[in-house]
Amino acid sequence: MKREIIANVLPEETRIAVLEDGQLAEFMIERPALGMAKLVGNIYKGKIENVLPGISSAFVNTGFEKNAYLYVTDVVSPSKDRHIEKMLKRGEEMMVQVAKEAIGTKGMKVTMDISLPGRYLIYMPKSEHVGVSKHIEDPAERERLRRIVDEFSRFARMPEPDRKETDLVRLLRDAVTLQEAGQPGVRLVAAIPAGPVLMDLDATMISQALTNLIKNAGEAIETLQEKGAPAGHVPEIRVEMTTGDAESVIRIMDNGIGLPPDRARLFEPYVTTREKGTGLGLPIVKKIIEEHGGHLALLDAPVFDGNAHAGAMAEIRLPRLARRRMGRNMGPQLAAQEG
Ligand SMILES: Nc1ncnc2c1ncn2[C@@H]1O[C@H](COP(=O)(O)OP(=O)(O)OP(=O)(O)O)[C@@H](O)[C@H]1O
Ligand SMILES: [Mg+2]
Repeated sequence: MKREIIANVLPEETRIAVLEDGQLAEFMIERPALGMAKLVGNIYKGKIENVLPGISSAFVNTGFEKNAYLYVTDVVSPSKDRHIEKMLKRGEEMMVQVAKEAIGTKGMKVTMDISLPGRYLIYMPKSEHVGVSKHIEDPAERERLRRIVDEFSRFARMPEPDRKETDLVRLLRDAVTLQEAGQPGVRLVAAIPAGPVLMDLDATMISQALTNLIKNAGEAIETLQEKGAPAGHVPEIRVEMTTGDAESVIRIMDNGIGLPPDRARLFEPYVTTREKGTGLGLPIVKKIIEEHGGHLALLDAPVFDGNAHAGAMAEIRLPRLARRRMGRNMGPQLAAQEG
């Protein structure tokens, strides 16, 4: 999509139009308040001048003549005790945002709960809360949006893997068992070595990656069924693992709808063909596998017996000597030992 912004700036007003592919998508007019500049929304560095527990407030010097007013509910603090004198100290410095203009003799009102509005999202860096606008009423849509933000924050904040010696066979078996229970109509065929296959892995992350892929396989089968599966189609997911000296390979194959035509883009965030999908499942899996020095590929599955078409296959390659290859989490002692 081609986006253009056209601005028309006059002393009495600023007019802004956003065009998408030449069509008007948004139109805004801003008129400055007569006589004085608007400060609401501005962010300043402030210094606490005094704290008044009696009125649960503090006064903050932001460089203006009058100190700004900060009420207890606008204080962001890790303290469990919500008394203002427990949360703020005189002389403390912080970032504040103007919530209300100064009027007459009253200074402006500020908040520590900074918010930065964008076109679709309001970023509140000090808040853990994820909220959806009241104007979006459809519960399914609210749920979908919430999931996008949750998944994305997990993706963006993904920690480095915390690797410990783990049996990959057991992780894979557990993921299969879990999905077997979650997908009762699907035959799950596992060809997994007896194990154990010990590798240095972050068990939680690898389990999440395996679960995401087996879920995708199940959803691809569901999509095929919704579109009308051919007669005699038996829903099936095959999970295979092989291990050599250098690497372990896990393949998750299904006889579902098959990969969409634009398969090169599936690892990009937000690319989804499912109404309820976030399109973050695969980017997360890819990141997890790559953080472990491995490689993820999406291919066509072999055609299962009795089927006419191929589903999809996800292939994970994980180096057995992940630690030595990556080196990122390698402590100095280990480097010396191994070198
Ligand atoms: N096994 C598969 N068979 C066919 N298509 C698949 C398969 N796995 C993934 N895809 C395609 O890749 C897209 C992106 O997958 P991804 O896991 O990133 O997101 P999603 O499954 O749509 O949403 P979410 O994971 O949030 O539920 C899917 O919408 C689907 O089109
Ligand atoms: Mg998915």
